[in-house]
Amino acid sequence: MLIFSIETSCDETASAILKFKSDSSFEVLANQISSQIKLHAKWGGIVPNLAAREHSKNILPVIKTTFKEANLKPKDIDIFGVTAGPGLIPALLIGANVTKTIAYFHQKPLIKINHIEGHIYSNFINKNNKGNLNQYNFPILNLVISGGHTQLILMKNHLKYKIIGETQDDAVGEAFDKVAKMLGFEYPGGPIISKLANEAENLIKKSQINSKFLKIKFPRPMINSDNLNFSFSGLKTSVLYFYQKLLEKKITESELILWKKFIAKAFQDAVIDVLKNKTLKTIKIHQPKTVLLSGGVSANNKILEILEKELKTKHPEIIFNSPRKSLCGDNAVMIGIAGIAHYLYSKNNPTFQINWKNLEADSGLKLKDLN
Ligand code: KG4
Ligand code: ZN
Repeated sequence: MLIFSIETSCDETASAILKFKSDSSFEVLANQISSQIKLHAKWGGIVPNLAAREHSKNILPVIKTTFKEANLKPKDIDIFGVTAGPGLIPALLIGANVTKTIAYFHQKPLIKINHIEGHIYSNFINKNNKGNLNQYNFPILNLVISGGHTQLILMKNHLKYKIIGETQDDAVGEAFDKVAKMLGFEYPGGPIISKLANEAENLIKKSQINSKFLKIKFPRPMINSDNLNFSFSGLKTSVLYFYQKLLEKKITESELILWKKFIAKAFQDAVIDVLKNKTLKTIKIHQPKTVLLSGGVSANNKILEILEKELKTKHPEIIFNSPRKSLCGDNAVMIGIAGIAHYLYSKNNPTFQINWKNLEADSGLKLKDLN
């Protein structure tokens, strides 16, 4: 069977084609992404109407290239899948309407996918572009860290999502983006903050650093709270106050660059401590057999390194995985895999929405709305 999928919830226009079998194995035949990052960078964040304009400009060329890559035609596709939410409504509408139209024209089933479950399912693909939906044991604990979400989601089975913890304010990626903006960098801020933090670590290794740079420490909000929720807005504000005070002093340009590296490291360390503690706490309570990291922020090397190390030493019995770098951010392969899971595991469910008439883009789509 062949599934064609589309993702347009934010600033990437993406489509993919996957081939799958009833034994839950699958393979990627085509994967195309057109990114708008450069366009939004100068605005300091995503501008929804600009995103929609770009999606409508890019979507047909992206679809055309996807079919060319797979050497297939739309009539060859058995099922269509599209991100229906959450995300920016003007952006979601483009992908939803284009996919609806193709599915209607070819009279084929259309599956509604939640963007977050897409991120979760990005973990099911292996290095050889193949995967199997049965490769992990349940319960699976998902730590989803993206620009819009920070959630701990427990899955007792495929498509059975229970949100057991989430941010009360900013998402992790949003905090990275805001801190980068404060320090004078463009959107998206995650990659630049992690690069600066790495540079700070390298300087520490060379031990050529004045101890004043090592004293920066930011708060770890809610780290010891008795629930599994997060908060990152206070941390971001602490960085702002620290930086504003620093600017009041007379410091040279080269010293300021150094300060920025150590601020980035101190901020990232605080984020990692919180993510690590909450994940360990969740493991203690819910005893998952598998832990999967996902979302755009999972591209952060240091977060991955620390979580991996922590789990290996404290819970060697747990399988830990994170998506390969190119699938950490938004893409349509993850939407295709989630679509396969819906097709194989919930097609007998009477509420399973498989008709284009039932599909509406919904900026606030909840995981529980799917089952
Ligand atoms: O999943 P994603 O592509 O879009 C959403 O669904 O939100 O995540 C984008 C987020 C942005 O906030 C971006 O700054 C962050 O992922 N990000 C990173 C890194 N790479 C991307 N954050 C920290 N470190 C990174 N290396
Ligand atoms: Zn995303």
